[in-house]
Amino acid sequence: MCGIVGYIGKKPAYPVIINGLKKLEYRGYDSAGISVVDDKVKTYKCKGKIADLEKHIKGKDLNGVIGIGHTRWATHGEPNDTNAHPHKSQHGHFIIIHNGIIENYARLKNKLTEKGYKFNTETDTEVLANLIEHIYLKGKVSAEQAVRLALRKVIGAYGLVIICADEPEQLIAARKGSPLVIGIGEDEYFIASDATPIVEYTKSVVYLNDNNIAIVTKSELSLKTIGNNILTPKIQILDLDIGEIDKGDFEHFMLKEIFEQPRSIQDTFRGRISRERNTIHLGGLHKVMPKLVNARRIIIIGCGTSWHAALIGEYLFEEFARIPVEVEYASEFRYRNPVIHIDDVVIVISQSGETADTLAAVNQAREAGALVLGICNVAGSSIPRETQGGVYTHAGPEIGVASTKAFTAQVTVLTMMAMLIGKKRFILDEKKYEKFITELLRIPSKIEEILKNNDLYKKIAGLYVNSNNFIYLGRGYFFPVALEGALKLKEISYIHAEGYPAAEMKHGPIALIDENMPVVVIAPQDDSYEKIVSNIQEVKARGGIVIAVVNKGDKTISEIADHVFEVPSTVLALAPLLTVIPLQLLSYHIAVKRSCNVDQPRNLAKSVTVE
Ligand code: AGP
Ligand code: GLU
Repeated sequence: MCGIVGYIGKKPAYPVIINGLKKLEYRGYDSAGISVVDDKVKTYKCKGKIADLEKHIKGKDLNGVIGIGHTRWATHGEPNDTNAHPHKSQHGHFIIIHNGIIENYARLKNKLTEKGYKFNTETDTEVLANLIEHIYLKGKVSAEQAVRLALRKVIGAYGLVIICADEPEQLIAARKGSPLVIGIGEDEYFIASDATPIVEYTKSVVYLNDNNIAIVTKSELSLKTIGNNILTPKIQILDLDIGEIDKGDFEHFMLKEIFEQPRSIQDTFRGRISRERNTIHLGGLHKVMPKLVNARRIIIIGCGTSWHAALIGEYLFEEFARIPVEVEYASEFRYRNPVIHIDDVVIVISQSGETADTLAAVNQAREAGALVLGICNVAGSSIPRETQGGVYTHAGPEIGVASTKAFTAQVTVLTMMAMLIGKKRFILDEKKYEKFITELLRIPSKIEEILKNNDLYKKIAGLYVNSNNFIYLGRGYFFPVALEGALKLKEISYIHAEGYPAAEMKHGPIALIDENMPVVVIAPQDDSYEKIVSNIQEVKARGGIVIAVVNKGDKTISEIADHVFEVPSTVLALAPLLTVIPLQLLSYHIAVKRSCNVDQPRNLAKSVTVE
């Protein structure tokens, strides 16, 4: 979802900005542009990739030490050279880059048109540029004042960095709903949508909060609210290393992140599980544990893959803690006037911590008086700052748009939470608790074993690379795994795929079965094993193709299915962590064989910060 980079300091701005934009490519975009303050403000922008922008700029002299850069994910106006950012106000006083949506842009545009403003683009951002300029010229105020006064008229979400041509020794940054972080160097400052373009220069950062505005010169950062209240910048130290954001020996970030899962799961329970003392300790829940243990109901909210993790959480909390759970898409929850009680506990799950719908659900649940907790992967992101407690996943930066290691880390956190609460509610006895802890600690090595079969997944992928549809089936814990497997396939290979509860086949989807429709069945040994064997036989009886994920040594399904992916056995509640791995790799190899852009699939963004 769009990328913003700003630089002001002593280095040539262009290389800092263009490299910063490359670090943000994973967020997804359709066009890019840059402005540098040289003898005047020079702007270059175009549709396409950053490599296209570099070609467009090649040979031009861009010598300034102040500049801004943007990768756009279009919301208003198609992706083209004109609508790409930065945008200049009509009389050239302001040059701005924007992440988000100005919801009342049409009304503002009409008013500005009546005042004689003309518009060259279809974007909402250009409206904001002209609004700032109109206030600046009419009110004879400073650039910063004009920006603050303009933003008080804006409804919507923004992350902005602004150059005023008359005050070229500063950058103005403002945030409401779309993240911005400022890196503090030696007589230089870096501004970006997240920390990845900043961490190679400095680990000292200030995260902007909603309604913050920062005025940055080479030597000073001053922070205010848009209501003009002075704030003291809260400097935080990043725990991110530059080495975590490169592909290493892997062809794609997604493959690297799939193979990182043994370590990312270990990192997620490191320091939180003690086998010796047979304990789980989640510091971020310490203060809220009594409310959690006595929760009347738990509502788990997320989008996409995070919503799939939430579905697994439902099974976990109801099995281990016997607390009723409801799972909601954030986008549905926030608009349907949900019934929320003050003794409800709301858990939101978000890898990025910036998903607009999920963030809105947080605010809505808090206003209703519920306890709101977060499970996020990006420290310092918006959701952890808005929730009353929570547990970070420690998956490390997830660059591939398709979530893999963050998903298994989310499920690991949910498992630890459910076990801890179940023990405190005396539902999970000491013996069972110890068994689950022991098994959970074995999961990383079991994933290592599965990853060794990568060549098998690659081979099977080659057989079905030209399929147009897939169905994924699972029962119980493995229904959400079926949904997740289907999402992985469709979002990176563009093959249509659906996840279904296996028992639902006979209520319609079985009509789809034929020799062109691979059916992936997640079928480890569990109470409904015989039933899923019948489901597989029903598919085979209609000429369908079955790819089954089974426990190692399975004899029954191995005789019936066309292909089997074996995973080591474990306790049922932990099996989602294992059974999802072959599905991630199957999708990855199919997408690679279809020459898809695996790390940056078309139309997708890593973090959907617009509604
Ligand atoms: C998952 O592979 C997708 N990238 C997408 O569904 C993602 O899970 C969703 O947008 C939620 O993102 P979040 O976890 O950062 O909130
Ligand atoms: N709404 C702006 C546009 O469509 C910004 C979109 C983005 O976040 O990249 O240009």
